Amino acid sequence: MDKLIIQGRKKISGKVAIAGAKNAALPLMAASLLVDGWNTFSNVPVLRDIRTARLLLEHLGVEVRNGKEIQINAKGLHSHTAPYELVKTMRASILVLGPLLARLKQVKVSLPGGCAIGARPVDQHLKGFELMGAKIEIEHGYIKAKTRGLKGAKIYFDVSTVTGTENLMMAASLAKGTTILNNAAQEPEVVELAQVLNKMGAQIDGAGSEVITIEGVSALKPVTHEIMPDRIEAGTFLVAGALAGGTVEVAPCIPSHLGALLQKLEEANVKLETKENSITVKGGGSLKGVNVTTLPFPGFPTDMQAQFMVLLSLAEGMSAITETVFENRFIHVSELQRMGADIEIKGNTAIVRGVKHLSGATVMASDLRASASLILAGLAARGATEVTRIYHIDRGYEAIEEKLRGLGAELGRVKE
Ligand code: EPZ
Repeated sequence: MDKLIIQGRKKISGKVAIAGAKNAALPLMAASLLVDGWNTFSNVPVLRDIRTARLLLEHLGVEVRNGKEIQINAKGLHSHTAPYELVKTMRASILVLGPLLARLKQVKVSLPGGCAIGARPVDQHLKGFELMGAKIEIEHGYIKAKTRGLKGAKIYFDVSTVTGTENLMMAASLAKGTTILNNAAQEPEVVELAQVLNKMGAQIDGAGSEVITIEGVSALKPVTHEIMPDRIEAGTFLVAGALAGGTVEVAPCIPSHLGALLQKLEEANVKLETKENSITVKGGGSLKGVNVTTLPFPGFPTDMQAQFMVLLSLAEGMSAITETVFENRFIHVSELQRMGADIEIKGNTAIVRGVKHLSGATVMASDLRASASLILAGLAARGATEVTRIYHIDRGYEAIEEKLRGLGAELGRVKE
């Protein structure tokens, strides 16, 4: 397994290029299953998860061409089974369930199982499909679903679920009649999926609000689409600039996708300059402690919680970070404590008392965003930091060490 070695306290400055959004690309690749013909997606990030998604589609009989763009053609779709070996490496594989049920009327997908940050059940996905007329069985670790034909239904999500909303929106696009998703997720990635489905000929209204209405149609057609920039990668580099800048320009990005984060950065006394497609952050100022609660969009994103905690661990005064989305998303805390951070966990709240500095140490990554937070801590800490199990970071950040080195950071990857 590889590890990253980071020399701390090197000032970073310059412009960093943000890749396409992982959490937009994954549902869009699944949406390709809904149509026969070549879909073309550009600005697809080069990530392990994207490679896994490609393997899954090819396993199903789908043709995928990889170049600067990804082209996907589901004309040869011949299997309805997403095997454990693939699903266990990427939970988002659950996103093939809706399209396969809509197209083949039967599907067998391995239960994704939990991960480091929580149990991550898919009960809301399954409840929705049952309401749409699917018969669901769970045995031997697989979800088996079949239907004589999906029909529109009124669905109330007990909890806001991003992939649950996406899964049902895709299935409803080819169902008979009208589907209404209440308490739907409002994330930008949900909105982008709805936009692409409508480009394919679907009839979806309300994406981006908590009520989405889908009028089923008989068939969809292939499209070409450029994937939006990754708001979480952009947010991660803004925190890097706040911690170790100099002046860092993050582009392209869409400021309206980062509203809650930008507000909290400014409350913490971080200097930002926001333009239409870029945000510039100036580091070096004194950081002020603030309170943060993670919530579904447009609230503060849970995927930025670990990164923001590093900033608060070096801010004046006391901060409280409350994680309301996942039940176990504080695994990075013990690693940050080893670097000298003063953090106390009380239930789903982390009380952070700012310290003068962090000190480099050997720390272990546990999940995608926790590994990003440990890299950020290494940039700010005195001395060297070794982040082990760095394969987690490769799932969601394209060429992160090259991008950081391009800004003047001193870090390298070594084989363990
Ligand atoms: C998506 O995961 C993202 N992944 C996650 O990003 C992100 O953290 C999460 O949304 C929340 O924003 C992708 O889009 C591929 P949820 P998802 O369903 O859809 C509970 C990253 O770092 N829940 O919105 O799996 C669930 O347990 C990843 O890029 C149910 O109880 O998350 C969680 O507590 C990590 N039953 C909450 O809802 C269900 O059926 C939100 O989960 C579904 C979810």
